[in-house]
Amino acid sequence: MNIGRRSFLGLAAATGAAGCLSKPTPAGAVGGKDENLTVFVTDIHVSGLPDAFPKPCERLARFVDEVLAMNPRPARVVSLGDLAYLHGLPEDYAKSKPILKKLEDAGIELAFAMGNHDRRSAFKEAWPEYVAKSPVPGRIVNIISLGTADLVVLDGLQGSDERARTDMGPGQAKLFPDVFAWCKKELPKRERPFFVCAHWPVQEFTYPVKGKAKTSDLAQWLGRNAPQCKGYIYGHLHRWRPEWIHLGWKSSQTLRTLCLPSNGLWGDIGYATFRTSADRAVCALELRDFYFPREPETAARPAAWKVKVEETRGQCVTFLYDRGEPLG
Ligand SMILES: [Fe+2]
Repeated sequence: MNIGRRSFLGLAAATGAAGCLSKPTPAGAVGGKDENLTVFVTDIHVSGLPDAFPKPCERLARFVDEVLAMNPRPARVVSLGDLAYLHGLPEDYAKSKPILKKLEDAGIELAFAMGNHDRRSAFKEAWPEYVAKSPVPGRIVNIISLGTADLVVLDGLQGSDERARTDMGPGQAKLFPDVFAWCKKELPKRERPFFVCAHWPVQEFTYPVKGKAKTSDLAQWLGRNAPQCKGYIYGHLHRWRPEWIHLGWKSSQTLRTLCLPSNGLWGDIGYATFRTSADRAVCALELRDFYFPREPETAARPAAWKVKVEETRGQCVTFLYDRGEPLG
């Protein structure tokens, strides 16, 4: 079939609208790096102890090789927390740093969120220049460009850095007053589309409603107060899980949320690419495996694991920058 240029462009636009099926032209690609391409990875869980469980570290090395083999390469890689194995030890970050540094050495920007298995002071020993960028003292918060949109990285890590080496710390997140005050100051006024990310589901970030014996959560606040917020991305649950949150019965607007797989500990195993364009961002799953509770040493695997991978592989989520009718 002979397709003219006009027809070809029309076809390209149509397939672009199909989201996951599209392979958008990397319009932002410069010198082999695409400014509109980001890779999200989370729950890396590398241990630096001598008798450590080795699989997460092997998976991290494989992940880095895969990113470096991409053409074009992403402009940035964002880790959504639980970079450390369980206790946030300095040894954990020392072990993963040289592997991640290969990305930085290749000109790929790195960004990090804190998870419940992390420890800020130990992370800071490995990545002091990253911690120094945070606009909220004592927390690890950041805003980075994703190409046609921005990413707001929030910190909800509770507990003290002074806890015992064997103390995993609290699993639940907190919307700290200083982080929320920064959100109130910075997010409503933003003019470009942006996404919010953190380690935990957005519903864990709650705050008291003045004068009432109830709480609201960050999703509702973002939906009502930050019109340029186009979605929320997180880890923690070790699974690919797209959802949407409604923002009340007087609006057709929803806020899409997406949980990403662990890179190598348990559950859905893999990472995700995130491509921004003029009117949307498409997050595509790169699933590599499924196992629970551990990757087996032998090839013998329950049949259900294989079915799970086949069902999940190749999925994507499209975040339109037009979120629909605003709240009335
Ligand atoms: Fe985790």
